[in-house]
Amino acid sequence: MPKILPATGGDVVEIILADHRWFEEALRELRDVRSDRAAVLADLATVLIAHAEAEESKVYPSLRRKDAIDAEEVEHSTHEHDEGNAALLALMEVEDTDSEEFSSKTHELSEALSHHLDEEERDVLNPARTDVSEETRRLLGDAFAEERARLIDSGCGDIANVRKLVEAAD
Ligand SMILES: [Fe+2]
Ligand SMILES: [Fe+2]
Repeated sequence: MPKILPATGGDVVEIILADHRWFEEALRELRDVRSDRAAVLADLATVLIAHAEAEESKVYPSLRRKDAIDAEEVEHSTHEHDEGNAALLALMEVEDTDSEEFSSKTHELSEALSHHLDEEERDVLNPARTDVSEETRRLLGDAFAEERARLIDSGCGDIANVRKLVEAAD
């Protein structure tokens, strides 16, 4: 199963892409009937929440200040994080990981996440590649990795915290 990736510094685009690949791998394992689905889901919840929160607090504001992305893009991406969190919570609330319901909620999370990763890679990471300096991308990578690690240590993927985030977004 995919182990939680350690937070490394470096180019923020590369770090975010590595997480996106990891999400896709974790989703694949969630679909696999042979997996320890509860354990995979717990890790996915942790990294997903840490990743999205760190993007919102460390990456989007800086790209916005540098005019790489506009306010609407920030709002749209944040809204997609909220939708992803709601789909994540719905899946975490299913008790039987072998049930049809677990399967259909996995599908819903998978759809929400794939949609967001695609848009973010095209509309946020591309301007980060072309409109900000390498130095900025490195500084942002360090800030993102540090915040992501802090959130993981704080237990950000606990169901109580996921619920709190979903309720706050309503
Ligand atoms: Fe992302
Ligand atoms: Fe995102």
